[in-house]
Amino acid sequence: MSVLRTKPISDVIAQSEADGEDGRPGLKRRLGARDLTGFGIGIVIGTGIFTLTGLEARDSAGPGVVISFAIAGVVALLAALCYAELASSVPAAGSAYTYAYATMGEIVAWIIGWDLLLEFALGAAVVARGWSGYLAELFDLPVAWFGEEGSVVNLGAIGIVLLLGVVAIIGVRESARVTNVLVLVKVAICVFIVIAGAFFVKAANLTPFVPPAEPAGGGEGGIKQPVTQALFGLEPSVFGFVGVLSAAAVVFFAYTGFEAVANLGEETRRPRRDLTLGLLGTLLISTVLYIGVSLVLVGMVPYDQIDRGAPIAAAFEAVGASWAGILVSIAAVAGLTSVILVDLVAMGRIGFAISRDGLIPPSVATIHPRWGTPYRISAVMTVVVALLAGFLPLSALADLVSIGALCAFVLVSVAVPILRRKRPELDRPFKVPFNPVLPIVSAVACLYLMLNLSVETWLRFGAWMLLGAIIYFGYGYRRNRLAEREHHAAG
Ligand code: ALA
Repeated sequence: MSVLRTKPISDVIAQSEADGEDGRPGLKRRLGARDLTGFGIGIVIGTGIFTLTGLEARDSAGPGVVISFAIAGVVALLAALCYAELASSVPAAGSAYTYAYATMGEIVAWIIGWDLLLEFALGAAVVARGWSGYLAELFDLPVAWFGEEGSVVNLGAIGIVLLLGVVAIIGVRESARVTNVLVLVKVAICVFIVIAGAFFVKAANLTPFVPPAEPAGGGEGGIKQPVTQALFGLEPSVFGFVGVLSAAAVVFFAYTGFEAVANLGEETRRPRRDLTLGLLGTLLISTVLYIGVSLVLVGMVPYDQIDRGAPIAAAFEAVGASWAGILVSIAAVAGLTSVILVDLVAMGRIGFAISRDGLIPPSVATIHPRWGTPYRISAVMTVVVALLAGFLPLSALADLVSIGALCAFVLVSVAVPILRRKRPELDRPFKVPFNPVLPIVSAVACLYLMLNLSVETWLRFGAWMLLGAIIYFGYGYRRNRLAEREHHAAG
């Protein structure tokens, strides 16, 4: 049964509070609630809101896309409440990985840790390629080195990953400062879009708010179809309530990333209070902005005329305000830059937590004495991400980031009632209301969203997990700290 051994919560807490072990330095407590919210919004508001809103309004939900954003926001908020309970009572670097280790056992912890590495590393790589594309467009750079078509190596993507990797390694304070500036830029632009756009909203564009349902027609088959359709034969339809729901599954992507905040517990001065504020603050601010931006968009343009590629810029252009296109591009570049940076920061903390437990070689968990960051694991992973981003056309893999996030949300939601039962006396600064109902609703909602992803995404996810299983049974299973402890106790 040793694949299901659990790490005692007291060990987790002691480890996260100790200033490193054997006299070695630990992570440094340098962050407050504002920095955590900055990191959260930094990774959440990326391109999702600027691209998906138009597509889903036009093809799936009409003006009802506003409701889709609200539904997706509520599901993300449920998951964030579960994260907040666990993060504030067990503020450890590995977030979901650590909670799973304490509640569901080592193999589940490894699976989720491996899954989080995929989410953040791939997230950074995918976004870096998008970033490079924007840069090429803004400055008319050669597509062969900065774009997708006919390119062998993407220098823009490699450059931005290495640059932000250096920021992430040099310090969490420095990363917070850069992130906060970028976040201010993109939030200010979103607020401006909402206020300026409100003057051009026409009530006629908002009726009917949810256009009547119609069969989707065409649609994808084979491994491109959603699992719900492949397994249960559910035919996709567009518009109507079902259209609004399926758009919610798609726009959920725009909320993913907030969970990165939960990895910063060991670097927060007052983690028990500030992690909850950071997680919930991120989600509330993003939800309000998303609802505002999507409402303005569908109010400005009849939904069947919304531009699929650059919906917001085109909407402003249609009313004679073409300067808005430049603002949207600036917000997108600022957004993408902060997404990559927070991905790289979070990735280092997860790798650090896994290697501290010995599931990957512990020598990479060393913290730099001055910078206070897990510089070795961060450096190794930054180079891997830079190579991935430089050489592989990754846009097809964006859904893997969503499935990775959702898988973590399901497990974190399930971990809440398990830990309540296992350790009822644990001091919980924040408690999810209506336990276990709310965590169960959260888990089911996230599972439902996972089932809306394509068969192809599930197959790729399975392949990544298989690779993880090989590494676990080849190394971590025997070499980790708990295994060695069991071994000594037996011998
Ligand atoms: N939530 C991020 C975005 O919308 C991934 O770009």
